[in-house]
This record gives sequence, structure tokens and C-alpha cells, in this order.
Amino acid sequence: MTEFNKSNWAKAEFSQEYRDNADIYIVERRRLLEILKSFYKHFLCNKQQKKVLDLGCGDGIITHELFKVDNSISATLVDGSEDMLDKAKERLRAFKNINFIRASFQEILEKNILQQTFDFVVSSLAIHHLTMEEKIALFKKIHSCLNAGGHFMNIDVILAPVENLEHWYMTLWKEWIDERKRSLGIEGNYFDDIIDRYKNNKDNKPDTLEDQMNALKGIGFRNVDCFYKYGIFTIYGGEK
Ligand SMILES: C[S@@+](CC[C@H](N)C(=O)[O-])C[C@H]1O[C@@H](n2cnc3c(N)ncnc32)[C@H](O)[C@@H]1O
Repeated sequence: MTEFNKSNWAKAEFSQEYRDNADIYIVERRRLLEILKSFYKHFLCNKQQKKVLDLGCGDGIITHELFKVDNSISATLVDGSEDMLDKAKERLRAFKNINFIRASFQEILEKNILQQTFDFVVSSLAIHHLTMEEKIALFKKIHSCLNAGGHFMNIDVILAPVENLEHWYMTLWKEWIDERKRSLGIEGNYFDDIIDRYKNNKDNKPDTLEDQMNALKGIGFRNVDCFYKYGIFTIYGGEK
């Protein structure tokens, strides 16, 4: 846990701030969750086995959304933060067949922590905390623990391919937050510094969408595509 413990996510107040405000500053968060559920219903709901792995689960929001469409899922949730896992356990206490694992992605890469195979591996806003080298290693791990025909979906922030697009994407994000503040009646300068906080946070290591999709293809994922994009916010994935 050495790497993870050096990150902001190891601090309870940092993860608390995210839980309190993610619905305000994550672009189209509700839409992202609707796309996740639509994907799940289309590709996985009718399968016989539905073993789901949620990587960087936070407070369990992603798995919770999946349970809303299918309560026969068996889920494994992984996060480096004890605090986040406690919140996930609380949130999912009404559901059965759930396994919580406290581990960093680095530990998943180094040790034999995932000892089963899955039909759907999903991650939301967590993999961008890894370097490209670590991302590729994690994608390989995901591919190896997916059953044939299984799917991987990553909801995540990416780096624009060129600087002027990155600048515009940041403006687009700021415009989204301003619109959200107006619609929620939030006054004052709350969240005005989110973009600086994102940019100055050494834990954020986004890579381009193209590099990540090419990495998936190179590893052997099929039908790799981008399912959603709004500035730096994307959903992409592939099938084994
Ligand atoms: C932005 S939150 C996203 C949480 C949730 N998936 C969501 O969409 O709301 C990022 C999560 O990734 C976890 N995380 C960050 N770096 C990690 C690492 N190296 N290993 C394991 N978990 C990590 C954090 O503890 C946090 O719960």
C-alpha cells in the first residue's frame, strides 16, 4: 500500500470531499451512470453468470447502480481506501454476494489478489491515478481475469492529445460546473478551483484516450471503442 498511502485518497477528508461533491463537479455524472446501466442491460443482463469486479469502487456507487438493474449479480469491490470501503459496505448492506477487498492497484499487480474470473470489470474515475505503464499492466490483469465474452468498461478522465484541446476541455469543464451551480442555486466561488486542484494534483496521471484504447487492442481486447466523451470525461472499453 506504500504508493496508495502517499496519495490524497489515503486521507479521510479528501475522500469525504469527493463523496460530498462529486455529483456537482463530475461532468454529467448521472448520464455516465445511465450509460453504464444501458451497457450492462444490453451486454450482460441476460448472461447466466454475472460476476462483476468494480476497481477503485469508492463508496460503491457503480456496483449499486448495477444492482438496481440486476440483483442477481455477485460483486467484488476493490479500493485502497478503508474509509471508502466502509462507505461502500454501508451503501450496499441490503445486497448479497458481495466481496470487499482492500488493496491498491499496485498490490493487485504484484500479488495474486484476484483469485477468480469475472464477466464484467468496471472502473470509474480511478485508473487515471496510474502511470501509463501501470495502466497497461492493469489492463493485462483485467484481460486475464475476464471470462471469454466478458467486458471491461472504464469511466475516466483522459488527457487531450494536444495542449490547445486540453485548454478548451478545461474551459468546457468549468462551463459545466458553472451551469450546475446555477441550476442548483449554489452561489459564491465554491468549486471554482476544481480545475486547478485537478491539474496540480500529482495523483492525477491521465493519458490520452487513443493510447489507452490502443493499449487495450494490443493486449487482445476486441470491439474496443469510446462509448461516451465530453471533454476529458470518457467511457471506453472492450470485450475479451
Ligand atoms: C474519484 S474516486 C471514484 C470512486 C468511484 N468509483 C466513483 O466513481 O465515484 C477514486 C477511487 O479510487 C481509489 N484509488 C485511487 N488510487 C488507487 C490505487 N492506486 N489503488 C486502489 N484504489 C485507488 C480511491 O480510494 C477512490 O475511492
